[in-house]
Amino acid sequence: AKHLLGIETLPPAAITALLDRADHYVDLSRSDNKHGDALAGLTQINMFFENSTRTQASFELAGKRLGADVMNMAMQASSIKKGETLIDTAVTLNAMHPDLIVVRHPQSGAVDLLAQKVNCAILNAGDGKHEHPTQALLDALTIRRNKGRLHRLNIAICGDIAHSRVARSNIMLLGKMENRVRLVGPPTLMPSGVAELGVEVYDDMAQGLEGCDVVMMLRLQRERMDGGFIPSEREYFHRYGLDADKLSHAAPDAIVMHPGPMNRGVEIDGAIADDPRVSVIQEQVEMGVAVRMAAMDLLAQNLRAARAAQGAA
Ligand code: CP
Repeated sequence: AKHLLGIETLPPAAITALLDRADHYVDLSRSDNKHGDALAGLTQINMFFENSTRTQASFELAGKRLGADVMNMAMQASSIKKGETLIDTAVTLNAMHPDLIVVRHPQSGAVDLLAQKVNCAILNAGDGKHEHPTQALLDALTIRRNKGRLHRLNIAICGDIAHSRVARSNIMLLGKMENRVRLVGPPTLMPSGVAELGVEVYDDMAQGLEGCDVVMMLRLQRERMDGGFIPSEREYFHRYGLDADKLSHAAPDAIVMHPGPMNRGVEIDGAIADDPRVSVIQEQVEMGVAVRMAAMDLLAQNLRAARAAQGAA
């Protein structure tokens, strides 16, 4: 593929190949010499129209570790503030011959649209409520490394599913890899058309977590709630926040995940998040760098092959 826009169009074999490549980059990132040359000579531009800590930092580190020239566009200081559109901004940057553009945008579909206007590889770093493919891939890598496999697992995704691109990409990826996915949360925070997703739905944490191998908690995405249902934090934590009591219903060797940023005492008890016996939250962050290195490596290989074919034609 030319771009990484979502999990929806990614076949299972491509997911496995990317995770295998990412395993290699975990080893490289843990070594004293973290540098590879898969992106040497290439230019990577990061355009984040929404706040980010993990995704922005890991894409930047991933590009630098693989030898790319990395430029972070300061969107707050860009001509977007003077009314320039997303597309005009992208077309302008495209004229500077980047090879990879990483984009996060609050509008669902904005990244797909942008991919049609440029001739470099586009990576979706999260678009609205639509997709966050590299998050689902780093979650998959974390699960595979902890459970020794990425199939036939019981996985509960809990909380604000309706507004979560992380949930959407994970539901698709984990379903493609033949896992049993359960969604647990208040009915008001379930997406419409949930029956078509091939998942089980629960509004009770004890029932939803029963025997689960993986418990994935999600933040309340208040910025996407449009003034609709916003639960009180106290009541929400009482019913849906992950604490030791609720976790006791999961399998004894269950792992706890959270994509971050976390709101402690809202969707998760800080003691669970910090417990190294169950929490793999920091490992998810580590896997994020390796997955983004692998994604850009594979896209760069495709880009070089396409250019070579064009040159030969
Ligand atoms: N998980 C995630 O996307 O985190 P950031 O918003 O900090 O990038």
